[in-house]
Formats: sequence, C-alpha cells, structure tokens
Amino acid sequence: MALWNSRFKKQLAESALKFSSSIDIDQKLFNEDIDGSIAHVRMLSKQKIISPAEEKKIIDSLEEIRNEILNNKLKLDWKKEDIHSVIEERLVEKIGETGKKLHTARSRNDQIALDERLYIKKEIGVLEKLISSFQKVLLKIADKHKDTIIPGYTHLQRAQPILFAHHLLAYIEMLQRDKERLSDLLKRVNLSPLGAAAFAGTSILIDRYYSAKLLKMNGIIENSIDAVSDRDVLIELISACSIIMMHLSRLSEELILWSSQEFSFASFDDEYATGSSLMPQKKNPDFAELIRAKTGRVYGSLIGLLTVMKALPLAYNRDMQEDKYHLFNAVDTTKDCLNIITELLMHTNFNKNRFVDELKGDLSLATDLVDYLVRKNVPFRKAHNLVGKVVSKCVEENLKLHQLSISDYKKISTKFDDDIYELFNPGVSIKNKKSEGSTSYKEVEKQIQKWKKILK
Ligand code: ARG
Repeated sequence: MALWNSRFKKQLAESALKFSSSIDIDQKLFNEDIDGSIAHVRMLSKQKIISPAEEKKIIDSLEEIRNEILNNKLKLDWKKEDIHSVIEERLVEKIGETGKKLHTARSRNDQIALDERLYIKKEIGVLEKLISSFQKVLLKIADKHKDTIIPGYTHLQRAQPILFAHHLLAYIEMLQRDKERLSDLLKRVNLSPLGAAAFAGTSILIDRYYSAKLLKMNGIIENSIDAVSDRDVLIELISACSIIMMHLSRLSEELILWSSQEFSFASFDDEYATGSSLMPQKKNPDFAELIRAKTGRVYGSLIGLLTVMKALPLAYNRDMQEDKYHLFNAVDTTKDCLNIITELLMHTNFNKNRFVDELKGDLSLATDLVDYLVRKNVPFRKAHNLVGKVVSKCVEENLKLHQLSISDYKKISTKFDDDIYELFNPGVSIKNKKSEGSTSYKEVEKQIQKWKKILK
C-alpha cells in the first residue's frame, strides 16, 4: 500500500502505478536520499521532536538499508512508487512505529529537491575532475607539438599557418570556462530545500539551518514554495553539460577530418578505431563520431527539461518527476564522452611533418605579405589590395608564393624586395606574430607554461 493511501477506498490500478513508478530511474539517488534522511533525523532529535534513542535507531537502520541496497539485498520493487517510499517502508518494516517518525515535518517534495541537489553537488566534482584530466592530455599533446605547424582555418578554408599546440590550447581555455560554469553553479546548488515540507513550511519547530549544516550546505533556500517548485539548477547543469558536449563535438569533428586520407594528419591507435565489414581497407573514427552524435542526447535533455518546466503552476507538480531522466541522461552522457575523448586523444598520433612541405609558399602566407607592406608604410587596405593581385596571379599561373619571380612582384608593387622570399616559410610566419595570445612560438610557450601551473 502506498504511503498516502488511507484516504482512498481502492488501490491504484496496476497500470497506473506502473506508469507513474519512478524507481527504475530514481534508485540512483538512494545514497543522497539516505544522507538527507539522516540529517533530517538528527535535526529532529536536536529539536527534541524525537528522542536520542529514536534518532539512533532510525540512523542505524538507515545505514543498514544503505548496505542492503548496495549489496542488492533489498528488492527495489517498482510497485513501491519511488525510492523514497522503498526506503521509508523498509525502515518501518525493520523498526516499526519509530520508523514512522522519520517523515515528520518533511514531504517527498522537499526530499526529492534535496536529493537532486546533493547529487548535482557530487557530480559537479566528478565532471570537474574529468575535464581537468582531459585538459592535461591536451596540454601534453600541445607540449609535444609546440613546433608542429598546421594550416589554420576560417570557414574551413585555409587561412593562416598556426602551431598545432595553439589550436589545442584553445580547447583547454574553453574547457576551463566549462569548469568555471560548474563551480559557479555550485553556489546556487549547495543550499538546502529540506524543511520546506510540501511547500508551505511546517508548524513543527524544526531547524532548517541545522540540517543544511549537517549536509555541508551553505544555507537554505529560504522561500519554502521556491524550494520545492523550481528545477532551475538542474537546467543550468544540463546547460553546462550541453556546452561541454558542444566543445567535445567540435574537437571530434576535427579529429574525424584530420584522420581522413585527405588530411592524413591524425591516426588513431587500433584500439580506438573500427573497420568496415565490407571494405577491408577502412579504419573508421567511430568514437569521435559517437561523441559528436551523443551531443544530441544532451541537447535533447536540455530542451526536454525546459519543456517539462514550462508553464507549470507553483508549487510541486508530478510533471517534475520526469526531471531525473533528463538530469541523469545529460550527466552520464557527458561523463562517458569526457572519459572516452580523453582516452582517444591519448591514443592518437599526430604527424608532425605532415604540412611542412605543403605550407611552403602556400597562399595562406598572403597575410604575412600584407603585413610586410604595412611595415613599409603602405596603408593596410592598399596593401591588402596589392597582395590580392599577387594571389590572383599565383592562382592563374598555378604557382606558390615563392615561385613568382621578383620582377612579377615588382610589377605589382615596387615596395616588394628580395627579402619577401624569407616570408614564404610558415615557421617565419609563426615567429613573426607579435600580439599577446598569438600563435608565435614565444606566446604559445608562454601559454603552455601557464597551463602547466594551473593544471598541475
Ligand atoms: N517521485 C516524486 C518525484 O520525483 C517524488 C515527489 C512526489 N511528491 C508527490 N507529491 N507526489 O517528483
């Protein structure tokens, strides 16, 4: 019989119970649920609402129940509706009347809101650690490739040569902001809704701050209606996960491109690539593809939960039970993807020399030629125009920049001298960059050193 059944003449129809039972999903919260109950019971005892002996009896039993669940000794029966009911009913089964005191001044509404916050708090820590490990792998590769030059792109058109390390460092920065979003969220998460009861508070003299303190939370969510009604912190977390996944999907896409025969820049270890059942030569980047695709799951949950919450009247509505599917889906998918992309990167080889010949005299050095003219006091817009003509001539004659004769250069502008040929080496282009945070060897080294300190 359900916890709330006495005012009904009949039992819930089995089909209705099955439809509404959430144990298959919310059992994930059993630890948080028990932690929350223990804090609640200790508070009840401090407030002399229950006796110290009752407190002890309940807490000991709750710990036993925790072990029973951990060791698969307690059947998580879907017929019991949700994890809160499973635990409470088991408690009553074990210690009788005393167990019935646990739910004093509490509702499942504040209980679930608390469980979710405790879960998010824990998972923020896990996600932060996973991101840091991933950043460390990126940094290691960057350190190994501080002089590996690749073409940099805008619009996926060759733009200017860059250091591969610089490209990877850009991801490290993005991931750092991902971590900051999580730690910022922690401020809003780490507050206790417990004691809000169903939504209006309680006439029993509880101490909400005390249970919050026991749970190592920084305070309470004061307004009892707000405490049980909102799921904004879940949405924020899923949103932070969506941004992480967006970043992972971009790197995945690049790994896929780089591993193509056309790029021939990245190759995955056999342990992290798959073959084709039909084409014997194939080596496929499935893991990067799956990360790219799983991004959709997380975005789906973001929209999913926003939609659950949209237009819900205050306070608690059963709709909110659906939040956990989205919360767990987003967190689990993001953790999985962070784990696998870290491993994948650790098992990817990047061909240092891939672009050395290809970038010599490449048109992607045209900007360096513009800067050359600017240094000779040609106004930028004019210099851009003149180099445009150089490019056009090269394209027409199918030449690289260093293959065009000095007389052809001089026909376009007398400002061009023999020393332009030194510019047609991508390493010189890299070295010549002067601005902070640029792709120059010096700036990239500076960034690497900075991250070594931050990520140690
Ligand atoms: N399983 C419910 C949920 O996750 C717990 C809260 C139930 N509250 C209620 N008033 N039926 O939302």
